Amino acid sequence: MTTFVLFGGTGDLAKRKIIPALYSAFVNGRLDASFSFIGAAREVLNDDEFRKRVAASIETYGCKEGKTDTEKVADFLALTYYSKIDAREPDDFNVLKQRLHTSESNATLFYLATGPDIFIPVVEQLSKHGLVEGNARVVVEKPLGRDAQSAKEINHSLRNYLRENQIYRIDHYLGKEMVQNLLALRFANLFLEPLWNRKWIQDVHISIAEQVGVETRGDFYDHTGALRDMVQNHLLQLVSIVAMEPPVNANPDAIRDEKVKVLRALHKFTPEEVSKKTVRGQYRAGAVDGKPVIGYQSEPGVPTSSRTETFVAIRAEINNWRWAGVPFYLRTGKRMASRSAEITINFKPIPYSIFGKSQGPLRSNRLVISLQPEESVQLFMKAKEPGEGIRLSDVALNLDFAEASNSRRVESYERLLLDALHGDLTLFVRDDELSAAWEWVDPIMNAWNNDSEGLKSYIAGSWGPAASSYLLAQNGAAWGEEYVEG
Ligand code: BG6
Repeated sequence: MTTFVLFGGTGDLAKRKIIPALYSAFVNGRLDASFSFIGAAREVLNDDEFRKRVAASIETYGCKEGKTDTEKVADFLALTYYSKIDAREPDDFNVLKQRLHTSESNATLFYLATGPDIFIPVVEQLSKHGLVEGNARVVVEKPLGRDAQSAKEINHSLRNYLRENQIYRIDHYLGKEMVQNLLALRFANLFLEPLWNRKWIQDVHISIAEQVGVETRGDFYDHTGALRDMVQNHLLQLVSIVAMEPPVNANPDAIRDEKVKVLRALHKFTPEEVSKKTVRGQYRAGAVDGKPVIGYQSEPGVPTSSRTETFVAIRAEINNWRWAGVPFYLRTGKRMASRSAEITINFKPIPYSIFGKSQGPLRSNRLVISLQPEESVQLFMKAKEPGEGIRLSDVALNLDFAEASNSRRVESYERLLLDALHGDLTLFVRDDELSAAWEWVDPIMNAWNNDSEGLKSYIAGSWGPAASSYLLAQNGAAWGEEYVEG
């Protein structure tokens, strides 16, 4: 018997991501026969009222295999219940307890899709009511803390009630198909490993560009900003997987042991370095995909005087034998020209060209791993154009995963929920990883707080402030979209 209890069950994340992911797992036969789902939140609702919301969430955001299958929706709703819970009301937890079957074989997964201030009171009550013993697991959403100190406090408090292997810190980027594929690409193939180091790699770009603005989350976002919302977690997780040493095996801790070493080896910036190696920006009114959009300061919930960054670019460095001297250019932004998440490994130029000057400078080989909107791995090589004489051009060896496989695409939330239900911690973040990531981010945040001049503006629908291009141009590099073939 497995029960999934969703705190924050009436919230935005539940509606858009978690409930549709759970439903998709159900429709695809991935949940065991005795599964049940309890939504929990402060609002007073009965089971049927909650079921109506679940049905609406499936209708709007559900997977295409199942959203129109009224029988399946009805079956899912029959497993769905609601429990009103206020974290400060111990009695509410008694009611929840009655709803849960607590025999030995029971596995309960508590998912805390709430603000971080509620995590500890909820976990404390769960523990006091004997609900986190045995097989119980707790998933906690980001942001976990606002800085290294607060993250440490939250981790410490969680550990008062839970063992580390009961805590599932979710970073949904780790559930993306291509992120896992990166592990396969790196550690199941021979030819990349000898090249995967400072001797052969010029630089690494990791860019997550979004077209959306802050949508309905203006107030939350304004207290968070892009550095905490995207860099501290998603971008640094990608850095750690690109840069890690081969783990001794594929067990969760073996992989996380290697990832945390990368995070600890990230060079921490002095305040002077922060001003040279980071760029932050905020979007003003512009147009995305030809449609006019408002500027960040006019978004609902955002003060007109806001100094919060919606764009970040950083030239990071990893101080270890494999990567010393190789720039890792990280970038993320809202309201950018297009939606894409990509990792580009730029190899060094060939030492000498036998083809002479007529070919112009040759862009060196690069490996582009695209997470979204499409999933692909492309290795760009030089080849001769067909026809007379030798003219070189860039051709891609292309692994297109949509074409290469007919298997069902599993969305990251569904994958991670199923992993948590099966007790697989591989794609969840360990406490030491989280601390190491915050320790690298803290000096950047502190320096920005003391520098009122540094925030640049950019037009919505562009690729960010000009300073972001300059950050790379200083090293003779350019972001992918700026590159002009020589
Ligand atoms: C979330 C951030 O973690 O990731 C959002 O809080 C962001 O601000 C989202 O929009 C991006 O995720 P994805 O999967 O759409 O790239």
